[in-house]
Amino acid sequence: MKNHIFLISAVLLVQVIAIAAQPAAAPAPAGPTNITKILEKAGQYTTLIRLLKSTQVGDQINTQLNNSNQGLTMFAPPDNAFSNLKSGTLNSLTDQEKVEVIQFHIVPSFLSVSNFQTVSNPLRTQAGDANNGQFPLNVTTAGNQVNITTGVVDTTIANTIYSDNTLAVYQIDKVLLPLDLFGPPAPAAAPKPQKGSAPNSKDKSAADSSPSDDDSSDAMGLACHGVLSFFVAAVIVAFSL
Ligand SMILES: *[C@@H]1O[C@H](CO)[C@@H](O)[C@H](O)[C@H]1NC(C)=O
Ligand SMILES: *[C@@H]1O[C@H](CO)[C@@H](O)[C@H](O)[C@H]1NC(C)=O
Ligand SMILES: *[C@@H]1O[C@H](CO)[C@@H](O)[C@H](O)[C@H]1NC(C)=O
Ligand SMILES: *[C@@H]1O[C@H](CO)[C@@H](O)[C@H](O)[C@H]1NC(C)=O
Repeated sequence: MKNHIFLISAVLLVQVIAIAAQPAAAPAPAGPTNITKILEKAGQYTTLIRLLKSTQVGDQINTQLNNSNQGLTMFAPPDNAFSNLKSGTLNSLTDQEKVEVIQFHIVPSFLSVSNFQTVSNPLRTQAGDANNGQFPLNVTTAGNQVNITTGVVDTTIANTIYSDNTLAVYQIDKVLLPLDLFGPPAPAAAPKPQKGSAPNSKDKSAADSSPSDDDSSDAMGLACHGVLSFFVAAVIVAFSL
């Protein structure tokens, strides 16, 4: 009789563990994506965060992410990219032009690193029409290396800051200055050759890496716990027989 109660409780314990472990293995529901939070977590993006706020483009992004199924891609220049601009570059712009510059860093669809290999130039950005307008953004790729040109600035994707199949945020080395606002006034000026922008192998592997999944370790822990409990229960059963 005692043995039977032992056996029944052990079987029940195993079942309870199996049921409890199941929902924990599924990913926790994520709150609405918050671009500011992502950039804060990445660090070194205080200027971009400030501009996203003052232009209200940050709110636009969060709303769009919640409402569209196309996703978004953002090119994020870190603080040193802004401090490398010629002084007064952004201060000379009107508020509307600042909005355009920030929107120029956003493509209204999700692009993984490998997606860049098949996009057609010029890419359409949130700043407006790339074909007839003055906001062309062109990419060239070689494997995982992605170069970007605006006709004024040439840069490279240095790193994947964030990617969740809806939003991709890539670190770029320079602020993307659109042709419309920073292009040469006369067609005479030849573009200066770019120097020192060759990406190194560290950048390439960084672009490859995807963000870690915070939930996976918890799920693993529970799974292990379940296995251990089953083992303990099995031992109890074996002894009680
Ligand atoms: C996004 O995150 C920032 C910083 O963590 C916070 O100040 C802001 O209120 C958040 N916005 C939303 C809509 O949750
Ligand atoms: C997200 O979208 C849903 C449905 O479209 C809406 O009810 C909700 O208020 C939105 N949340 C935010 C934070 O915009
Ligand atoms: C990207 O730019 C770098 C530096 O200008 C250049 O060496 C490299 O060949 C370019 N790669 C592609 C795929 O355009
Ligand atoms: C971008 O690509 C288009 C299509 O190939 C081309 O016509 C245009 O001149 C390019 N612009 C720049 C700035 O590279």
